[in-house]
Amino acid sequence: MNAPLRGLIRGLVISLVLAAATGAWIYINRPAVEQELVVHSTGKALIGGPFTLTGHLGESVSDHDFRGKLMIVYFGYTFCPDVCPLDMRRLSMGLQLLEDGGQDLGRLQALFITIDPARDTPQVLATFVGHFHPRLIGLTGTAGQIAVAARAYRAFYERAGGGEGEDYLMNHSNNIYIMDANGEFLGFFSSLDTPEVIAGRLAGYLKDLPVADK
Ligand code: NI
Repeated sequence: MNAPLRGLIRGLVISLVLAAATGAWIYINRPAVEQELVVHSTGKALIGGPFTLTGHLGESVSDHDFRGKLMIVYFGYTFCPDVCPLDMRRLSMGLQLLEDGGQDLGRLQALFITIDPARDTPQVLATFVGHFHPRLIGLTGTAGQIAVAARAYRAFYERAGGGEGEDYLMNHSNNIYIMDANGEFLGFFSSLDTPEVIAGRLAGYLKDLPVADK
């Protein structure tokens, strides 16, 4: 086997091991995340809350901008070698299925909020979201703004050990949260949900979405 091929195969094996390790980590952490979906006395889940961030076009974006729409929220980072791109691909395929079925996706907004604002500038995010469905926008902010948003959604993230300088990985939870027209929690998709499941559940939520008065 020639050297470049051997290098490629070694790279693939390392990627697969990393993917398996990430998958195992997510699986192990799943119950903890689900336990966070506590319902308090008013019957509303304690997921979600206000945020003010910067969109991938450099514009200021807050949760209030999406009132009246289904808001889909994901926390990840563009340098992620596998989980984030795969999750955004599944979501994008689900959105495409909805669109193919004649749904108006103007009533829905998907958000990719970076948990790695040091590297994920608006420009970097613009390139990343360009690979996915056009209803997905990328959001970044200061470390403090990101922390506020992640805390509101009970999203976990930390810089992984190893890696130097600008070359590092992040550990993070990867639920795809679904929020209603008032910004309140409806549910979430996990890594186990296929594009078909995503499209089916979103179609149901869209059906229940109040029609905005214009
Ligand atoms: Ni990721």
